[in-house]
Amino acid sequence: MSEFYTSIANYYEQIFPVGAEKINFLMKSNPKTAIDIACATGEVMKEIQEKGVKVLGIDLDEKFVEMAREKDLDARKLNMLNLDEIDEKFDLLYCIGNSIAHLKEYDEIRKFLQKSYDRIDSGGRIVIQFINFEKFLENEDENGYLGSLPDIKNDEFTFHRNYFKEKDHIRFNTTLVVNDLIIENNEILFPLLKDEMVSIMQKVGFKNVKVYGNFKGEDFDEKVSLPVIMTGEV
Ligand SMILES: C[S@@+](CC[C@H](N)C(=O)[O-])C[C@H]1O[C@@H](n2cnc3c(N)ncnc32)[C@H](O)[C@@H]1O
Repeated sequence: MSEFYTSIANYYEQIFPVGAEKINFLMKSNPKTAIDIACATGEVMKEIQEKGVKVLGIDLDEKFVEMAREKDLDARKLNMLNLDEIDEKFDLLYCIGNSIAHLKEYDEIRKFLQKSYDRIDSGGRIVIQFINFEKFLENEDENGYLGSLPDIKNDEFTFHRNYFKEKDHIRFNTTLVVNDLIIENNEILFPLLKDEMVSIMQKVGFKNVKVYGNFKGEDFDEKVSLPVIMTGEV
């Protein structure tokens, strides 16, 4: 992974504020223990912990892990592909914010989901949020441009997000503009498809796999929904 997340770490929490709907959705199964895969600066973990849940977070980015630790959270630098290095099991495992798209291919995703399954206690739940790239891929123009997500803006900054096709992958191009400072980045993502993901979840052994269009728990609508939230039980 590039220095992408480190370079925007100081703005990350303003760009992606947490929101009550996300926390309520994660808390639906009433977990006592949880693991946040790709926890970034730990803001989601912090809110889950405040609800009385014992949470461990892992992330690949050192700066993010440091920022989470400064909040007295239990965060460790670990690649999600090495999840089997953790011994404990959890009631809830979540990996949100399209973090799973950082894995390179379906084989890696299957391995990660298998290791996730093994780390969830019987009766526990998994929550994965990602972008279903199907709609984007249908709209590719002659320059490989696929589409954008709405700009995130406040008085201090603007964050632009554009997606391009790059061979078998997606190039996620972001520009953060803070006064005179412009931080541009490109991150390679895997073009995840909802139906493929559901099939892998079922093959790995997750029961009752469900798909939602948002954290309110509304249905995924093929025509308009880009983010997908997938849940499953062990
Ligand atoms: C878009 S951010 C989402 C973070 C957070 N879950 C959220 O919803 O705001 C993606 C995160 O994935 C982390 N990441 C990318 N590849 C990873 C890997 N293989 N293992 C662990 N974390 C990874 C990045 O460091 C970054 O924090």
